[in-house]
Amino acid sequence: MTQRMLIDTDTASDDAVALVMALRDPGVVIEAITVVAGNVPLDQAVQNALYTVELCESPVPVYTGLAGPMLRDLESAENVHGSDGMGDIGLDLSGRIPATGRAVDVLVEHFLADPGVVDLVTIGPLTNVAAALLRAPEMASAVRHCYIMGGTGAGTGNVTPLGEFNFWCDPEAAKLVLRSGMDMTMIGWDISVASATFDSDQAAGLRSIGTPFAEFSVDIQAVLTEFALNETKLPGFDLPDPIAMAVAIDPSLATSVARHVEIEIGDGHARGHDIVDWLGVTGKAPNVNVVTHVDREAFLSMLIQRLS
Ligand code: RIB
Ligand code: CA
Repeated sequence: MTQRMLIDTDTASDDAVALVMALRDPGVVIEAITVVAGNVPLDQAVQNALYTVELCESPVPVYTGLAGPMLRDLESAENVHGSDGMGDIGLDLSGRIPATGRAVDVLVEHFLADPGVVDLVTIGPLTNVAAALLRAPEMASAVRHCYIMGGTGAGTGNVTPLGEFNFWCDPEAAKLVLRSGMDMTMIGWDISVASATFDSDQAAGLRSIGTPFAEFSVDIQAVLTEFALNETKLPGFDLPDPIAMAVAIDPSLATSVARHVEIEIGDGHARGHDIVDWLGVTGKAPNVNVVTHVDREAFLSMLIQRLS
């Protein structure tokens, strides 16, 4: 059965691999890509998404979304992904034209037009999705399932000890989305750390697939590799958005538990932290399926297939 999907992204080097996976999956129909500011400013994220869609020779429309968090200045992450967000390897990432229309309107109208049959995959800050839910709260029940790359799960933050970038960048949006009532699965950065890191040999193995998609997917991680080695102390680049996309495409890859999750807003170390009530001590009803494990080999197998 074909999976119908909309993807909301702040397109940088790991987002781009998640887009390639979905764009090249014969069982997935991406009906729209909506872009949000995050890793890089909005216009760059739009160009990066358009470049990736063109690389895959796909007609999927790319829509421009919001240029910054709901109540804060944008704090982007060029230090993580590069000035252009795509590893600064000299790709021509300019001059492409997005589809006409606002991302927030596309999200609302698309899900309300066909309730309960289209999935939403978010791989960036939740600004667009939060704005869409404010405009049309009934969208929450129209989304079949929302797969969110965000939060720390059982692990650590990657911006602060408690803050993972997507939730940290726009915590108010994350809070609003997690309270919305959507059917949601959260794939935290802990899952990427555990099952989606690539040291130099593993990266070379991926690149040796030899297709333009494989070479692109590895080469654009050039800056992320340095950030991982020096800052997040990983053996090489990690792919949080692609492993979240793998779970969206095949939920059987993931083990998850239904828990109550709230988002910490404010400006301290806990900014954007996902407070997971693992033991149920709050007595509040679960609102999110929190992924606790993804089999690395199963993820790798899907990734290799989609890049081949
Ligand atoms: O914390 C990882 C997330 O932040 C990923 O979506 C990455 O692309 C950045 O947006
Ligand atoms: Ca992202």
